[in-house]
Amino acid sequence: MGAREEEFGPSALGTKEHWDAAYERELKNFKENGAPGEIWFGEESMTRLIRWIEKQKIPLDSSVLDIGTGNGVLLVELAKSGYTNLTGVDYSLPAVQLSKSIMEKEGLPHIKLQVEDILNPSDALSDFQVCIDKGTFDAISLNPDNAAQKRKQYVNSLHRVLKPGGFFIITSCNWTKEELLKEFKEAGFHLLEELPTPTFCFGGRTGNSVTALVFQQKL
Ligand SMILES: C[S@@+](CC[C@H](N)C(=O)[O-])C[C@H]1O[C@@H](n2cnc3c(N)ncnc32)[C@H](O)[C@@H]1O
Repeated sequence: MGAREEEFGPSALGTKEHWDAAYERELKNFKENGAPGEIWFGEESMTRLIRWIEKQKIPLDSSVLDIGTGNGVLLVELAKSGYTNLTGVDYSLPAVQLSKSIMEKEGLPHIKLQVEDILNPSDALSDFQVCIDKGTFDAISLNPDNAAQKRKQYVNSLHRVLKPGGFFIITSCNWTKEELLKEFKEAGFHLLEELPTPTFCFGGRTGNSVTALVFQQKL
């Protein structure tokens, strides 16, 4: 176990029970007052990656997969930016129920949402041009049951679901750029770009609490 793993050791955030309970609460809130719930890493985390996708002139009908979509709000924003071939998966049923309710309210029935454990994806989940992860690899890394093995499984799944030459955009608060590079570069993904994230200053030291990287899977 590395120093960072000790720092961000196993936690409830790494369990499905945690996410099921969290999204059950969020679903209830949504039904009662229409609030979509937490947007992990804030609005700017969505703007940052959508701008990057737009800058690449990736065709609007390219297939995009949001891994661990939660409430699916990122997919709503992508749809509002014109993207038409969007899929979100999450292993938590209440998360998928919440995201489906939000899509219904937003009038976006063409967004596909399914319950899938990304560590064991179905064959239907393949050939995506873009895969996005905002906080899901972080959650998996906090699994109390052999997180190192689960991270390996995640990378294998990513190979299966992403097209050769496809893009993988990850936003993380548990791992530094170097740590993410080690994990993904060794597995055949090369770093295309680091997206700028807010910096913080603490105890006279400046750093980034969030890392956002774009990788491309080798052809
Ligand atoms: C920190 S939340 C981020 C949610 C969303 N991406 C966002 O940015 O708001 C992590 C999400 O990953 C999902 N998740 C964790 N492990 C997963 C797995 N093995 N397969 C699919 N989803 C998973 C959780 O249910 C949760 O929705």
